[in-house]
Amino acid sequence: MTKETKQFAYWQKMAAVDPDMAVIDPRDHAGYKNSYICQIRDLAFASALSSIPLQSPVLDFGCGTGSSTKALIQLGYTVKGVDIAPGLLEHAVKRCPEAEFQLSNGERIPADNESMAAVVTYVVLSYLVSAESVQATLTEMHRILATGGKLILIEQARRHTLIVEQGLKIQRSLQDWQQLLATAGFTQVRSKILRHGRFPTTPLIKLGLLPAKCWPWLMQLEQQTAHLCGVFPGDYAEVLFEAIK
Ligand SMILES: C[S@@+](CC[C@H](N)C(=O)[O-])C[C@H]1O[C@@H](n2cnc3c(N)ncnc32)[C@H](O)[C@@H]1O
Repeated sequence: MTKETKQFAYWQKMAAVDPDMAVIDPRDHAGYKNSYICQIRDLAFASALSSIPLQSPVLDFGCGTGSSTKALIQLGYTVKGVDIAPGLLEHAVKRCPEAEFQLSNGERIPADNESMAAVVTYVVLSYLVSAESVQATLTEMHRILATGGKLILIEQARRHTLIVEQGLKIQRSLQDWQQLLATAGFTQVRSKILRHGRFPTTPLIKLGLLPAKCWPWLMQLEQQTAHLCGVFPGDYAEVLFEAIK
C-alpha cells in the first residue's frame, strides 16, 4: 500500500467512529480530552481570525467531521471545508448544512486564485509526511489566499523532527515548519505553543481528573510553561502558526 492510500484508508475508516471522537483521539470515549483540545483549537482560530472581517471566505483544510468548520461558522465566517475522506465529509455536511464541502487531498485545492481571506487547518499537514506533498499543499494554500490573506495552522512539533504512528504522521521541528512556510512564499510567520502533548494536563483531563471549570486556567499554564521551556524534550507540542501571503 502506498503512503497516500494508507492515509486515505486510515481516515476513511474513521468515518465509522462517533464523529466527535473520530478525528482527534478516537480512544477518548468519555470525550473530555477531545473537548479540551477542540476548545483550545477554536479559541486559537478565533483569536488569529480577529483581524479578518466577518463573513469573509475562509477555507477549513482537512475539516474532517466539521467540528472546526462549525466553530468558524458560529464566529460569522463563510466557510468552505475540504478533506481527503468522503466518509468524514458526510458527517461534516450533516453537522454544517450551511457550509460547502469538497474532496481534496491538497495537491489541488478546489478554490480560485486569491479567493480566500484566510485558510485554517488543524493537525492536517502533520499527516503529510513527505516534504514534497506538504510543500505542494502549502503552495496551493498560498495560491488561493488573497494578497494580505492569512494562513492559520495548528500543527504538531518536536525539538527534532520525528516520524510517528507507524509512518502515518510527522512531528516536524519548529525550524522545519518555518522553513516550509517561507519556501511556499509566506511572510511574517509567527508561532506560539498552545499545549504540550503528554505533559500531565491532557492525560489527566482524559481520565476525568481535571474538571472543565479548571480548563481555562490549565490552558494558560500550558502556554506559560511553553513560553519558558519551549517544546519539552521527549514530548510534542501543538503549535499555532500564523503567516501572511
Ligand atoms: C486531526 S484531523 C482534524 C479534523 C478537523 N479539522 C477538526 O479539527 O476536527 C485531520 C484531518 O485531516 C484530514 N486529512 C489528512 N490528510 C489529508 C490530505 N492530504 N488532504 C486533506 N485532508 C487530509 C483527515 O481526513 C482528517 O479529517
